Amino acid sequence: MPYVVTENCIRCLYMDCVSVCPVDCFRAGEAMLVIHPDECIDCGVCEPACPVEAIRPDDDKEGMRWLAFNARFAEEWPRICEKGTPPADADDWRGRPGKSATVFGAAAP
Ligand code: SF4
Ligand code: F3S
Repeated sequence: MPYVVTENCIRCLYMDCVSVCPVDCFRAGEAMLVIHPDECIDCGVCEPACPVEAIRPDDDKEGMRWLAFNARFAEEWPRICEKGTPPADADDWRGRPGKSATVFGAAAP
C-alpha cells in the first residue's frame, strides 16, 4: 500500500516530503512530485510532513484517484533526493480548486 501525491501538491511543491523519505522514492515534475509506488515502503512519515495534505495512502479516496498518475510519471520524471526551493507563487496555488485539469489537461486523473 504505497502513499500517493495528489492534487494539492500542484504548483505548491513545498518539498518537505523529500527531506523525510528514507528511500528517496519521490520523482519531480515541473508542477508536482509523485511517489514511485514500487519503491515506497509505506512508512507514512511523509504524510504529516506535507503542509497542504497532498500525500495520501492509496486506499483513501483521493489516493486511489491519483495512484495510476503517480505510477505513470514515476517512470518518466527524475528522482529527487533533496528539498529544493518551492516556487515563488506556491502560496497563491494553495488549495486552489481545479489545478489538476488546468495543469495536466487530459492527463489529469
Ligand atoms: Fe517515502 Fe515513506 Fe512516504 Fe513512501 S510513505 S514516499 S517510503 S516517506
Ligand atoms: Fe508536494 Fe507536499 Fe511534497 S506540496 S512537494 S507533496 S511537501
